[in-house]
Amino acid sequence: MPKDEAQAEKRIEELRTQIKDHDRRYYEEAAPTITDREYDRLYRELGDLEAKFPDLVTSDSPTQRVGGKPLQAFSQIRHQVPMLSLDNTYSEDEVANFYKRIAKLLPDEKIPVVIEPKVDGVAVSVMYENGKLKYAATRGDGSVGDDITQNIKTIKSVPHQLSGTAPKIFEVRGEAYLDKKGFEKLNKEREAAGLPLFANPRNAAAGSLKHLDPNVAAKRLLGMIFYGTGAVEGAEGDLHSKIFQLFKKLGLPTHQDWWLADSVDKILNAIRDLDEIRRDFPYETDGAVIKVDALEQRERLGFTAKSPRWAIAYKYAAERVKTKLLDIKVQVGRTGILTPVAVLEPVLVSGSTVSRATLHNEDEIKRKDIRIGDTVVIEKAGEVIPAVVEVVKSKRPRNAKPFDFLKHIHGKCPVCGGEVRRDPEFVAWRCENLLCPAQTTRRVEFFAARGALDIEGIGGIVADKLVERGLASEPLDLFELKIDPLAKLNLGTEEAPRVFGEKNATKAIQALERAKTAPLSRWLYALAIPDVGKTTANDLARFHETIEEVANSKLLRDVIVYHESKGDKQKTTEIGDRLIKSGFAEPSKSKADKQRGIVTQVGPVVAQSVIDFFESSVGRKTIQRMKQLGIKPASEKISAKKAAELPFAGKTFVLTGTLPTMSRDEASAKIQSLGGHVSGSVSKKTDYVLAGTEAGSKLEKAKELGLKVIDESEFKKML
Ligand code: IVH
Repeated sequence: MPKDEAQAEKRIEELRTQIKDHDRRYYEEAAPTITDREYDRLYRELGDLEAKFPDLVTSDSPTQRVGGKPLQAFSQIRHQVPMLSLDNTYSEDEVANFYKRIAKLLPDEKIPVVIEPKVDGVAVSVMYENGKLKYAATRGDGSVGDDITQNIKTIKSVPHQLSGTAPKIFEVRGEAYLDKKGFEKLNKEREAAGLPLFANPRNAAAGSLKHLDPNVAAKRLLGMIFYGTGAVEGAEGDLHSKIFQLFKKLGLPTHQDWWLADSVDKILNAIRDLDEIRRDFPYETDGAVIKVDALEQRERLGFTAKSPRWAIAYKYAAERVKTKLLDIKVQVGRTGILTPVAVLEPVLVSGSTVSRATLHNEDEIKRKDIRIGDTVVIEKAGEVIPAVVEVVKSKRPRNAKPFDFLKHIHGKCPVCGGEVRRDPEFVAWRCENLLCPAQTTRRVEFFAARGALDIEGIGGIVADKLVERGLASEPLDLFELKIDPLAKLNLGTEEAPRVFGEKNATKAIQALERAKTAPLSRWLYALAIPDVGKTTANDLARFHETIEEVANSKLLRDVIVYHESKGDKQKTTEIGDRLIKSGFAEPSKSKADKQRGIVTQVGPVVAQSVIDFFESSVGRKTIQRMKQLGIKPASEKISAKKAAELPFAGKTFVLTGTLPTMSRDEASAKIQSLGGHVSGSVSKKTDYVLAGTEAGSKLEKAKELGLKVIDESEFKKML
């Protein structure tokens, strides 16, 4: 645990970056690289730190939102009842604590709970009106999900019409899954076609549900298990345990095996019983869900900000085995980050052979003191990519040397031989050569991805092949593509060819044409400038008209000079004033910032990164080439005067709870577009607390401090 706030801030930043990366891999790319357990560990560390240093909580912290982001390509559906997730635990003690906690909240009452399998699939919500399937949606961020009606309709076990007497409104929630056999078959086919394999059935299921083409979803035989309801009219229930019977009557697939218990011992027994039989289920399960049975008791227990108090998910420990670490390979990612990967003596875990495991970064290797030649314990939950948990020190060969990252790669990028630098902000080494082929491929992919320039059809495999065939060696080459060679691009192998096709090629070219005038913030993000994430890209775009203006930014240079000139009062005052006047900085409110005096939109490290990029030959070429190609990103600049005149200028908002019609992202975006700030924690500096239902401790704190609390309708009036 970091000792002081500065250390905590650094670690929090690291954790947020890592978690956001993993979120993206999980939700958007359906290709996670760590186990759920490791993810939960990172998440919990972040949560603990934020609890200890509440001033460091920000609204964009992963702890402040409920689920993944909805994908833009689908139309969106707002859930009438939010789709929450559950608190996870891996320990029986915590399950016992959960039961004791609710027993305390409901003293002298019998509290039966239901224990049921936790299906490792994708959460979906399906709406039936008068028995007819109306629509289906993913969880998305909990309030708004993707409309996946067409894909859900391809699942055979999901009825289009309920049998028997159906309630007027019946929204059912459950888990779509790909069964174990289907998963194996799918990956075999993909292997034969030279396509990348899915890491686990959940990703394969997510991939097909989120496939824009329902025909693809139909080909992968998905199953469904329903375990709960959302909005309901005309079927008043009192016990959750009755739902299984009702679902069966209506023709909805649900759990076969579930248990009732009313004591800690009985709950733990049920969890163990389930563990005995779950391996024989056709689908993957990763835990047990424990839910209070009586709906009336649930109501009294209520919710915390993110999850119900009346349920908890217990996750079974991932399977662990020992094997030998033969070597450590270093891979190069999009921004040049070097990632170490363990090469293992192949070993069978959870039914599949494992020969690789992620090692994350240099510090992780040091912390666990992992050495080549070591016997290591690897862990694999379900079908997820395995991780090295620890070293069996007693089996260490005598000549095993501590792993020296830099020496291992001979001080050079293992792909291009370029220079490497350890990034002071992160825990990673980075290849400095922007023309490194490993980076090129990932940059082309990133450039075209959702959230960046969103070029339909150009994903990982296409990017790989474009670079491999010499059709692109940097992102901007995409704009020179012609339909014909693109249509003929073979994405498969020579034996099993699979061409990109005329239709896809046409769509991609059209998307590229549209991208030429995409907003500046998207361009800044898509160029994969080191340290520039979405937020920074937005901030830069609001203060610069064109990309050339960013490249030659006086503001960014001022930020750097300002921070370099600390101690020179006259100079810092002069620059500080200038930055404040431009709207790019604000006078600091924090005591810790006293000597600094101002807070800038982007910090000096990021500012330097942006300047370095545009001063590098790649950066200069990029600007020149964009001009030649007639690319003119749309301006999002607001004038300094306007910034100061915006109605929420200088005002800080804190959001808490669930708003009736707006998502948190929407509300935050509105506030920011009107010049306001959104903060994650309540303090004396907060101007408004926008509170929805199930607002928790933040609301209490706001009341304690006597702050102005508003609800959505008041907020809308302000807008
Ligand atoms: S109940 C209000 N029951 O696990 C919470 N969830 O983190 C409603 N899941 O979001 C969820 N099997 O996607 C519930 N039998 C089950 C489940 C289950 C899998 C998933 C679901 C949920 C997540 C919990």
